[in-house]
Amino acid sequence: MSADIWILVGVAAVGVAAVVGALVVAVRRRGSEPFAPEVATPVRERELVSVAVPAEGPTEETPPGPPVDDTPTQIEVREVARVVEVSPEQAGVTRRQFFNRALGATFATFLTGFGLASLSFLWPKLTGGFGSDVNAGKVDELLKKTVNDDGTITPVYLPEAKAYVVPAPDPLPAIYEGKNVVAGGVFALYQRCTHLGCRVPWCGASQGFECPCHGSKYSVIGEYFTGPAPRSLDRFVVELNDAGELIIKTGQIVQTPRLDRLNVPYPQGPSCIDI
Ligand code: FES
Repeated sequence: MSADIWILVGVAAVGVAAVVGALVVAVRRRGSEPFAPEVATPVRERELVSVAVPAEGPTEETPPGPPVDDTPTQIEVREVARVVEVSPEQAGVTRRQFFNRALGATFATFLTGFGLASLSFLWPKLTGGFGSDVNAGKVDELLKKTVNDDGTITPVYLPEAKAYVVPAPDPLPAIYEGKNVVAGGVFALYQRCTHLGCRVPWCGASQGFECPCHGSKYSVIGEYFTGPAPRSLDRFVVELNDAGELIIKTGQIVQTPRLDRLNVPYPQGPSCIDI
């Protein structure tokens, strides 16, 4: 898998871990709240009760001695308040629950937005562009454009694929056989230097690619010649469609090591960089 795919998988894994973590925290917080189903919630309730009160009217003077229970009384209806306990379902959502849920919803919204933004940034465009299959056009015309009248080479640069199309040697060196990196007699070389990733420009004078950052040099077919680059230029898997057009699979990169012997001569003239 390419580095982008690994990054994508990593972001997805982090997103899933974050969501699981948020759920675990939410469940724990809910379990520690004092509003668990088995714990009742005190509320005030008002009701009318009948009470016996002393009857109104002239009162006789109470004789000395222990109180007697023959005092005249009357029934009176009064409103009283009392505290009763109800279940959380009866009590409704508490303020703490409301804020906990709002916090969780905000966190989930943020994670979702972040995840979608990351995916849209990393996911290859379905309609073309780097990371997808790029149609470079008729391979015969591409091949013609790469060969000058004097026999020198000028690669065709395709910005959408970040690739140089160059002619492949005939016969094809054994190291490239069976790797699907040649179609219609051309390679598609990745423009990125294998040292630290600078874009490597073409040098017509030397007939090779020369990196201006630290001086790595490669032949016309991207084979390593000199400099700090650890390997030759990377190349893309290519194929021809039924119309004879070159399809560059920019999501599939094939690496080529340094070689003991170049398969095409380099340099063929003065260098374009002074490193
Ligand atoms: S990035 Fe090309 S030589 Fe260092």
